[in-house]
Amino acid sequence: MQKTDFPIFRNYPELVYLDNAATSQKPQAVIDAVKDFYENKNSNVHRGIHSLAERATLEFENARNNIAQFIGADPIEVIFTSGTTESINLIAQMLFEHYENTNEKKTILLSEMEHHSNILPWQLLAGRLGWELEYVRLTSEYELDLEDLIDKIKKRDVSILSLTHMSNVLGTINNLDEIFSKVKNISPRTFCIGDGAQYIPHHKFDLTKNNNIDFYVFSGHKIMGPTGIGILYGKKKLLETLNPSKVGGGMISKVERNSFSTSELPEKFEAGTPNIAGAIGLSAVINYFSELNESKVENHMSELTNFTLNELNNIDELTLYGPQNLIKRGPVFSFSIDGIHPHDISQILDQDGIAIRAGHHCCQILHREILKIPASARVSLYLYNDIEEIKKLSISIKKLITQFKR
Ligand SMILES: Cc1ncc(COP(=O)(O)O)c(C=O)c1O
Repeated sequence: MQKTDFPIFRNYPELVYLDNAATSQKPQAVIDAVKDFYENKNSNVHRGIHSLAERATLEFENARNNIAQFIGADPIEVIFTSGTTESINLIAQMLFEHYENTNEKKTILLSEMEHHSNILPWQLLAGRLGWELEYVRLTSEYELDLEDLIDKIKKRDVSILSLTHMSNVLGTINNLDEIFSKVKNISPRTFCIGDGAQYIPHHKFDLTKNNNIDFYVFSGHKIMGPTGIGILYGKKKLLETLNPSKVGGGMISKVERNSFSTSELPEKFEAGTPNIAGAIGLSAVINYFSELNESKVENHMSELTNFTLNELNNIDELTLYGPQNLIKRGPVFSFSIDGIHPHDISQILDQDGIAIRAGHHCCQILHREILKIPASARVSLYLYNDIEEIKKLSISIKKLITQFKR
């Protein structure tokens, strides 16, 4: 991997891009794959029988197979969506239909570190079913309080547990398989859902070894893929029994005046023309990953994470929100500086060519109730970042603190 693999850094060599949790940059290979589709293969999929249509369908299904293999899933368990947000909404709607006619009052369990995309769909579902929504507490180390989680599982009838695999604010990594395995031992019928939006860009994740996950979702654009493409993985036996929440062309076997029957998996859940170029672009990411030296990338990222943690910890005026233990965290660092608004931090760093994020990062509950601040500044790293960039970051932060003190 070289920085020059990414056209944005060829075009802006001075750019220090540290907003990777929002979206990552795209390597040339991914841009080329999307361009090649439109230039040489563009046609709809699963419809026409002319050669171009057959070529597009083949490429699209090859992309699905490639992605399925990457996460250790059966291709029929891999549904293309527009991203994490749509995937969670679809699951919530499917489960609405599943539970619509039950009268029991159940609980949906989330955590205090969830992104709005893993809260709002469940708020809607809880409202529609008249259920309770509960949040697992965090510890003072910004980790999930597992005792509280188990206590809530034991005391309530939890039907749905949906947790982030890595927090987009705290960087905390939740060991989902271990957590879900404990939960399933107590409550085998709880649907366990993992939000992989932040985890999957940084870690190889094999669903065959994580058997307790019922649904797993992520977005292409955070893992160097195109925007507008995402994955909804669901266990085959669940997807076979659940009904689709989106209906229309491409997902039926028969339509009559007042009824229809659905086609097989995975098309059953893919109504309408999918984002074909997006799927092909996401598959190109996986090919790009396979050409990288995995252990070299891992070492680089842990060295960079460690270095950033130390640099930020060494700035006295800065408060960092997230675990100090490197094993428990990924490369996402949210912080505040007394007396300086996060928007000012971001704007001043921008003048030095450093892009970071400022705001609540779609985690208002976490900011307001747990961190007790309305917003934070966030630095998030990816494999093309380096130590020199972090040195520039810490010089710029120290400079702005001095400016504000005057
Ligand atoms: C943890 C987490 N979940 C969900 C999302 C939503 O992802 P998207 O906007 O790609 O649907 C994000 C995006 O930042 C995220 O960080």
